[in-house]
Amino acid sequence: CRLDTPPVSSTSVFVHILYYRLQALKSAFEKKYGDSPQFYACAPGRVNLIGEHIDYCGYSVLPMAIEQNILAAVSVNKSGSIKLANINPLYKDYSVSCSEDIAIDRDNPKWYYYFLCGVKGIQENFGITNLVGMSCVVDGTVPPSSGLSSSSALVCCAGLVTMEANQKSLSKVALAEICAKCERYIGTEGGGMDQSISFLAECGKAKLIEFNPLCATDVKLPAGAVFVISNCCVEMNKAASSHFNIRVVECRIAAKMLAQARGLDCSRLVKLAQVQGELEASLDEMEALVEEVLHPEPYNREEICKALGITTAQFCSELLSSNTQHVTHFRLYQRAKHVYSEARRVLRFKHVCDSEPADALKLLGDLMNQSHSSCRDLYECSCPELDQLVELCLKSGAVGSRLTGAGWGGCAVSMVPVEKVDVFLKAVREGYYLNDPRRAAMEKQSLFVTNRRRGCHFY
Ligand code: GLA
Repeated sequence: CRLDTPPVSSTSVFVHILYYRLQALKSAFEKKYGDSPQFYACAPGRVNLIGEHIDYCGYSVLPMAIEQNILAAVSVNKSGSIKLANINPLYKDYSVSCSEDIAIDRDNPKWYYYFLCGVKGIQENFGITNLVGMSCVVDGTVPPSSGLSSSSALVCCAGLVTMEANQKSLSKVALAEICAKCERYIGTEGGGMDQSISFLAECGKAKLIEFNPLCATDVKLPAGAVFVISNCCVEMNKAASSHFNIRVVECRIAAKMLAQARGLDCSRLVKLAQVQGELEASLDEMEALVEEVLHPEPYNREEICKALGITTAQFCSELLSSNTQHVTHFRLYQRAKHVYSEARRVLRFKHVCDSEPADALKLLGDLMNQSHSSCRDLYECSCPELDQLVELCLKSGAVGSRLTGAGWGGCAVSMVPVEKVDVFLKAVREGYYLNDPRRAAMEKQSLFVTNRRRGCHFY
C-alpha cells in the first residue's frame, strides 16, 4: 500500500478512509518516535450473525468481519522495550522491558494489557526468551465495549505485530488459535470465535466457524438483504465484570451434570458439545435430555457437589474461575437449553443460506428472532435497552434482529431487506438516538450498514 499518493484508481470509500487513517497514523508515529514505521498491521472487528455463547461449549458460530478494525504502525527498536501508544488520548502510553516477564493485571483491564496478551501468546508459542524491542502506535475504529470484538481485534493485531517483528511465521489458523488462548490472560474464558473470524475472514463472506479442529467455511448471505448494526449505547466490558465467566461456568457444570446422569466419565467432559459427541445424540435429543435431567430452579453448590460426588474445595478449584468464586446459584437448565437450541439454529441458518429457498429472508429472520429470545430469556445476557432497540428494529422493517457478541449491552444486528434500508435507518435514528442527547452524540459510530470486509493483513 503506497502512502505517498492517494488511491485515485480505487472507488472504494474503504480504501480512501484507510489511506487517510494510515497517513495520520504514520504522522503520529513519526511525531512520537522521530522515525517512520517499518510496517503496519490490521485486524478487523466482527459481527456475529447467529450462534451466541456457544463457541466455548464447542459449537459452530456464524460471524463476519466488519470494516472497523485495529490498525498498528510498528518499528523494531534497539531499546530492549516494547513501547505502546494509542491515537486516542484516552488510552495512555505504556512501556515494558523485553527482559521482564509480561504481567497482565486481570483486575485492571487497561487497553495495553490486551496488546500484551497477543505479545505473550506469540512469545510462549515460539519459546522466545529475548523478544525484540518494538515501538507501536495503535489506532482503533471498533467501538469499545460494544460487542463488536474490539478487544480480540487488538489481541490479534498484537499477535500479528509480534510475529512479524520477531521474524516468525504462522498459518492464520495457528494464529487464531494462539490469540484465542492468550486472550484468556485477561481473565475471560472466551471461545475463539472473535479471533478466528479476525484472521480467517474474506471479503464479501460470512463464515461458519467450527472448532476442534478450527475450520472456516464460506456462507453466502442472501442478496436481498443487508445487515445493520446498532449500538444500544450501554457499555459492557466483559473483562471488568463476571457475567461472562459465570455463563462459562454454568455451561461447564451443566455438561458435567448431563454426563454424570448418563453414566459418562464426567471428570473428563467440560463442554456441552463433548457430551453430545460421547452420547452420539442429535441436538433435539440433547434438548430432551436437558428437560429430563435438569430442573428449571437454580442449583446451589451443595446439590451440584452431591450429584457430581465432589467436595466444595474441588468445586471451587476445578469448576469455578477466579472471578466466579462468589457465585452461589447456577441456572443449568436454562443455559444448556439455550446452547443446544442455538447450536441447531446456526446449522439451520447455514442450510437456508446454502439452499436459497424463496422465503429465505423470512426463515433467516425467524432464526435471528428466536436467537434473541433465547439469549434474553434463557441465557439472560441482554439488557432492557438492547431489548427495546431490537423491538424498534423489528418495527422499523427488519425481518430479524438480535443482540450480537457477549451482550449485557452493546450492539444489535438486524437483517433488513435492501429496499427498506433507508426507511429503517430513519426510523431507528429517530426512535432510539435523536430523542436522547447522550445517544444522539454517539449516533454516527452507533448505527451503520455492514460492508462485508476482509480479515487481518499487513501493509
Ligand atoms: C465474546 C467471546 C466469544 C463469544 C461471544 C458470545 O465475544 O469472546 O468467544 O463467546 O462473546 O457469543
